[in-house]
Amino acid sequence: MRNTLLLLCGALMLAGCCGRPGSDSDLPVYADESQPIEKRVEDALKRMTVEEKVAVLHAQSKFSSAGVPRLGIPEVWCTDGPHGIRPEVKWDEWDQAEWTNDSCTAFPALTCLAATWNTEMSALYGRSIGEEARYREKDVLLGPGVNIYRSPLNGRNFEYMGEDPFLASEMVVPYVREVQKNGVAACVKHYALNNQETNRLRVNVVVDDRALHEIYLPAFKAAVDGGAWAIMGSYNKYRNQHCCHNRYLLNDILKRDWGFDGVVISDWGGTHDTRQAVEYGLDMEYGSWTDGLRSGTSNAYDNYYLAHPYLELLRNGEASMEVLDDKVRRVLRLIFRTAMNTRKPFGSLNSPEHLAAARRIAGEGMVLLKNDDAVLPVDLAKTEKIAVIGENAIKMMTVGGGSSSLKALHECTPLEGIVAAVGDRAEVVYERGYVGDVTGAYNGVTTGRDLSESRTEERLIADAAAAAADADVVIFVGGLNKSEGQDCEGADRRAYGLPYAQDRVVEALAAANPRLVVVLVSGNAVAMPWIERVPAVLEAWFCGSEAGNALADVIFGDVNPSGKLPFTFPVRLEDNSATALGEFPGGKDVVYNEGIFVGYRWHEQQQIEPLFAFGHGLSYTTFAYDNVRANRGSMSDGGSVRVSVDVTNTGDRAGQEVVQLYIGDDASSLPRPVKELKGFEKISLNPGESRTVTFTVTEDMLRYYDDSKGRWVAEKGFFTAYAGAASDDIRGTVRFEYR
Ligand code: GLC
Repeated sequence: MRNTLLLLCGALMLAGCCGRPGSDSDLPVYADESQPIEKRVEDALKRMTVEEKVAVLHAQSKFSSAGVPRLGIPEVWCTDGPHGIRPEVKWDEWDQAEWTNDSCTAFPALTCLAATWNTEMSALYGRSIGEEARYREKDVLLGPGVNIYRSPLNGRNFEYMGEDPFLASEMVVPYVREVQKNGVAACVKHYALNNQETNRLRVNVVVDDRALHEIYLPAFKAAVDGGAWAIMGSYNKYRNQHCCHNRYLLNDILKRDWGFDGVVISDWGGTHDTRQAVEYGLDMEYGSWTDGLRSGTSNAYDNYYLAHPYLELLRNGEASMEVLDDKVRRVLRLIFRTAMNTRKPFGSLNSPEHLAAARRIAGEGMVLLKNDDAVLPVDLAKTEKIAVIGENAIKMMTVGGGSSSLKALHECTPLEGIVAAVGDRAEVVYERGYVGDVTGAYNGVTTGRDLSESRTEERLIADAAAAAADADVVIFVGGLNKSEGQDCEGADRRAYGLPYAQDRVVEALAAANPRLVVVLVSGNAVAMPWIERVPAVLEAWFCGSEAGNALADVIFGDVNPSGKLPFTFPVRLEDNSATALGEFPGGKDVVYNEGIFVGYRWHEQQQIEPLFAFGHGLSYTTFAYDNVRANRGSMSDGGSVRVSVDVTNTGDRAGQEVVQLYIGDDASSLPRPVKELKGFEKISLNPGESRTVTFTVTEDMLRYYDDSKGRWVAEKGFFTAYAGAASDDIRGTVRFEYR
């Protein structure tokens, strides 16, 4: 509403002096939504002074940039983050503004969304979070993040979509498109190569072109091809240039090769040089602490790299008006798509529909890693006492983690969800088991829970074991959390194993009661030295407002788990390629020695058995795969091969299965992975029901990036199509020739 009134006032002010004679509207062209957007852009551009042009290129507050008040062109308001709409902060501070109407729905972390392997869930997610952003009158949502999972120690992996570029590419597009249907720009981040938090502001990534194009860029390209209106530059350097102003990544690849017509927004504090920002593709500068000024200095915004220093270059003829106008065109396009878009819906906030969406996405994303002896689902008709153990059963996870931290109107913890689901059908007892992070507040958002604990580690374990021994089933809820050094922005994890001596707790529980379920609340893989002694393991991710209810849905069988891992769980950290080849987190440079061999690509090339493989996930039912076949034995340029497989639900309850297609190049001039994900389809089957799933294999799915030629190539020869339920659970193959 704010924007509409501003627009109307500005336009009416001008109508008197420059309404087009005989026009069907008194609005000037730039304000007339019946006009083509490029015509509106050019009209606004020619009316703007140089000062007004420069003003729209940089922040005016922590999360907003100027419009053109004289023309009634509104400001641009940004908000974090990928999992929900951040609470309002003070004009020029990170501190909360302490509003009372800015609580939100906390949606599951993006690792959970990726683990659904369901593009419909991505669309539901984007629609829901876009509605909340619109309702809060935000024009740019700073998300989703699609940086590739290179190491399980990266503190921000929970905000991203896993280790595989195809999965991330497929899952990012619906999210972006649905957010933008609300007149809110998705700002896909962090472009590019932001795969660690250690030294993130300065580290220079050294990676070969094959890995850049085959692994680290595809999800960003998919988002751009999918119509993303904004991209956020990353903090790190590539080719010794900061990615917020990087000639190769921004000018050459993003804007020239990919034809990106949106805006490049800096990460907050990611801009370091005026001339580079001008010449190497930055369009909007946020969050800078410019030379000579410290954060929070008043009028710092006038001294931003793209503020007065840029104006001086222009006035001295040291910067071209053409480059300036290209930046301004992009910002105007953004404004016309968002703030000045009067046809956008009004959004909604904290609706039952959004809570239901959060719960559904969470339930579809949880991954049943192990379920021996069918410990899960817990049958309440045969259960009198449930022992719930672990700090993560009671700890709020919607707060913390860095910029994705939220002020959720509602958060159902795992214990609350389990208690609500059980009702009076069984007794639920709780024991802390361990002490992790007792912080009760994050940047002004208080959890209202007192996590203080006086017992010793030994006492806590003994009390937990005693409770376990006396129960019919034990549910341990542990994992990581959003504290620094865990799953949190700004630092990487210090170790691969579970923190806070949780392994000792799990061992004690396993000794006390064999009917033990380990639930991991986390955004990263972890070591499981106790895995042989634990019959059931469930990866429950960070699931936001409805975490507890969604967990209970899966534990008690109201939801049949169908999630699949979006990244590999190595047995030990040394099995991870970034660790094995020695550059994580690196020093001034971090060299991606592993090249394209990330995740399962590495494990399969090296024949290293993972703890749990990429694409792995069990169900409460079972599926048979039969008759993997191809419609023809060869394909030529422009042709295709259709690979089909018959899938049957051979169990006694309905369920969903993610049928996966991998392609392997039987012989290639350059080293290639054994196979790579090139297709997936999530299907629902009732008991006994069968479905034929067909994938159309085309030439682009056979290509690799030949960095000696600087282009994608598909070599003639034989390829193998692998169909299966996981990267390590292939149910059939078929060879075909590309002639
Ligand atoms: C942070 C993050 C980025 C976030 C921005 C604004 O440092 O890197 O993801 O959107 O700053 O909070």
